[in-house]
Amino acid sequence: MSTILFDCDTGIDDAITLLYLASLVRAGEAELIGVGTVHGNVDARTGALNTLRVLELVGIKGAEAGEAGEAGEAGVPVAVGASRPMAQDVHYAADWHGADGLGDIGLPEPAGRPVAESAAAQIVRLARSRPGEVTLLATGPLTNLGAALLLDPELPALVREVVVMGGAFDHPGNITTHAEANIWHDPEAADLVFAADWPVVLVPLDATHPTAVDDRWLDGLAAHDSDAARFATRILEFYVTAYTPTLKRRGAVIHDALAAMLAVRPELGTYVERPVRVELRGELTRGTTVWDARSLPAEDHRRPVRVAVGSDVTTFQDRLLAAVRSL
Ligand code: RIB
Ligand code: CA
Repeated sequence: MSTILFDCDTGIDDAITLLYLASLVRAGEAELIGVGTVHGNVDARTGALNTLRVLELVGIKGAEAGEAGEAGEAGVPVAVGASRPMAQDVHYAADWHGADGLGDIGLPEPAGRPVAESAAAQIVRLARSRPGEVTLLATGPLTNLGAALLLDPELPALVREVVVMGGAFDHPGNITTHAEANIWHDPEAADLVFAADWPVVLVPLDATHPTAVDDRWLDGLAAHDSDAARFATRILEFYVTAYTPTLKRRGAVIHDALAAMLAVRPELGTYVERPVRVELRGELTRGTTVWDARSLPAEDHRRPVRVAVGSDVTTFQDRLLAAVRSL
């Protein structure tokens, strides 16, 4: 069973990913020990309230505001993280996720509240409380992970694996010509993550874009009579409208859910292992993920990152749809 600590910027595909994780918890296939939120699609506090909204929709309560604990009877702690990047201005993605991060469908306030602990402190505490067990799944900018590395230099030895949705290699960027949004939002933090001596799986646009869902998938979701399916259908309407011009057909790329599925079902992906760096100074290329694909002996002594370059798209789409419909 996977022990997952989720760091996200709960926007629409992060929300669908929370539904997927909830289905794994309900099936006894994963334990969600905490969630941290970060600036990105929306501000970190809105992301935390959105996370609580989604978890409550599927019967998972947030831990009490005062507590800094671990998931269990007390609920799942949702911790607010960094409000801005390490070395640039903050930037939100209202065009893709809505001003409220969930497609502006006007959801009520959640019953729960975020815990007092910061997301970075929660990463360090939970990694120390469960040494070698925690899969750190990150689907937003990497500021909290970078801050946690600065807080506790021993963190890499305590975490089982880091799975990141982000980057682009042999695929165009989505926020600049070459940079993917999660990395571009905080290049310095991302480079700290790729430089650290821990096992990182990176799920870039090269792997996520081919999994774009289509009419059949969206209609299969809309046809299902459940609160979770209705919620997912409603928030995806905004995201599909934003994505259709890019895809040139009705559809959307649910990037974060692929990272989550590869975290628990790595056999569904295909990978290459190479050191990864982030461009920090290029006027046109800041935030771009860079690897050395030459067939020369590796000159870069960083620990190689396991980069997903493809996946079993049909199985991913079928399992994600089944997961949401199971709730
Ligand atoms: O580039 C896609 C990523 O940026 C996804 O995580 C999406 O939620 C946004 O955060
Ligand atoms: Ca995200």
